[in-house]
Amino acid sequence: MEERRENRNKKGNFIAFEGIDGSGKSTQIGLLAERLKKEGIRCYTTMEPTNGPIGSLIRQVMTGRIRMDNKAIAGLFAADRLDHLLNEVDGIAAKMEGGMTVLADRYYFSSYAYHSVDMPMEWVVKANEQSSLILRPTVNIFIDVDPDVALERIARNRFHQELFEKKSRLVKVRENYKKAFDLLAGEEKYAVIDGNQPVEAIADGVWEAVREYFGL
Ligand code: ADP
Ligand code: TYD
Repeated sequence: MEERRENRNKKGNFIAFEGIDGSGKSTQIGLLAERLKKEGIRCYTTMEPTNGPIGSLIRQVMTGRIRMDNKAIAGLFAADRLDHLLNEVDGIAAKMEGGMTVLADRYYFSSYAYHSVDMPMEWVVKANEQSSLILRPTVNIFIDVDPDVALERIARNRFHQELFEKKSRLVKVRENYKKAFDLLAGEEKYAVIDGNQPVEAIADGVWEAVREYFGL
């Protein structure tokens, strides 16, 4: 009991959720946050692209409002991530200093998976080196879903499809996620959860993958 209490008081964890569009990340983040809060753990949920200035520029690129070279887009995501980490208003680093556990909808593995469709993965990893030096996730949770299932979910719930939500692209992105986790297995912690299941079954899988980090 004593040991359990001690574990709960240590510095917050940082859990990054990864997966193709429509994989169910935000649904699972909400459920995990509820579960952690019930255990008395203070949680902050956030996402990339952010709602900050660089994130809104990215959204204008994604909707086709602004056209930009793929390398420049990858650079914007890397910059948005550093701002996400370091900005003084609601930066992840500050939240963690304050003892919060942070749950992020996407982090650098999204860059590795999405941008290496158009350029070498090593380039993308290098472009994000600063973020990985500043903060590595306690664990990356990869919700692995069949692209057809993801697209069906998206079609049911959204009015429009964004630039990256095409099947051929999602197939490649899913493969790239697997490649990236293999490539970085020595330095990153990750868990793969079958995202084709019902919401509650996935939530249980996520819980089993993270609870040890909270001493629960
Ligand atoms: P993401 O954040 O990865 O894009 P969401 O959590 O927004 O995914 O889920 C995409 C859509 O699919 C939402 O409408 C959500 O309600 C639905 N959804 C999420 N998880 C499941 C699931 N396991 N089974 C069926 N539908 C789901
Ligand atoms: P969004 O609709 O905000 O999120 P989601 O599909 O996860 O609910 O779209 C984010 C898009 O940005 C998504 O298609 C993945 C892409 N992306 C990158 O290409 N590189 C990155 O580094 C990140 C964080 C996201």
